[in-house]
Amino acid sequence: MSGAALSGDVLGDGLIRIQREIDTAFDAMLPIPDDARARLVEAMRHAAIGGGKRVRPLLLTATAEIYGVDRDCAVWAACAIEAIHAYSLIHDDLPCMDDDDLRHGKPTVHKAFDEATAVLAGDSLHALAFEILSDARTSGDPFTRAELVHCLATASGYSGMAGGQMMDIVAETERFDLHTVTRLQQLKTGALLGAAVEMGAILGHAALEARAHLRAYARDIGLAFQIADDLLDHEGDEQLAGKALRKDQAAGKQTFVSLLGADRAREQARALVDQAIGHLGQHGAEADLLRALAGYIIERDH
Ligand code: IPE
Ligand code: IPE
Ligand code: MG
Ligand code: MG
Ligand code: MG
Repeated sequence: MSGAALSGDVLGDGLIRIQREIDTAFDAMLPIPDDARARLVEAMRHAAIGGGKRVRPLLLTATAEIYGVDRDCAVWAACAIEAIHAYSLIHDDLPCMDDDDLRHGKPTVHKAFDEATAVLAGDSLHALAFEILSDARTSGDPFTRAELVHCLATASGYSGMAGGQMMDIVAETERFDLHTVTRLQQLKTGALLGAAVEMGAILGHAALEARAHLRAYARDIGLAFQIADDLLDHEGDEQLAGKALRKDQAAGKQTFVSLLGADRAREQARALVDQAIGHLGQHGAEADLLRALAGYIIERDH
């Protein structure tokens, strides 16, 4: 069997497995209450179940697997990071943000429900993430749970994702250089992808040196991931992507594609993926899923 076919199987199987596990876990943890909160939980389920690629959960569980972490614990922690991701997309799609009507091939939460419900569903998924992480099901060790909470909180707020989203909005009216756009992308998207890998390493009690290599891997794929998203916006197929495309230029977004052009942005993303795989050099076959995932991040069509 060729290496490409092998890595294709590892990746395809890994994606299908984690998508099923995350859907099942959210379905179980979000029963619709028999009272006036039903609409809120239906909106949370609309955002959290079905449709997403589950790249962050796959990064977390693939890293945890290297260290032999119990699968149920890793999937549980992966739900926390996906809850943050789902909340961020609900808010990102709101009329006051990117004003999008389609996500994961279905109406965005504020379209399927209403804006107030969408805000509350986002708020509730954000809180749910930390409810999950602080639960003993994630880890029997309270210190590990605290470390996970700290990692995800830092990656989500002003030092991470939300900070990057703010820079993204400022970049619509202020000219940024490539260095600042790089930082924007690293915060907006890279921080959460980095947290996924870091959380897998925390659960696995990985040694500091191993964590540094994994962090370097995550940093490179984090940037490559957002370049791929911006290339998708520039030249992708809306049907496959399941979301509106060709919006960044009209919105005046500054991206690697707007600054470098599509070809150089693509070259940059490929170089980052090669570099990311290089950081896994100390690992053998147990890191094959992380290697395959790095390639998928820039080859994906959605
Ligand atoms: C989209 O992320 C938003 C970005 C941070 C670029 P994903 O591509 O991971 O979203 P899913 O897979 O549709 O949930
Ligand atoms: C979203 O970036 C980043 C978030 C943190 C939510 P985009 O606005 O480019 O994501 P899409 O293209 O809507 O998925
Ligand atoms: Mg946005
Ligand atoms: Mg958007
Ligand atoms: Mg985009």
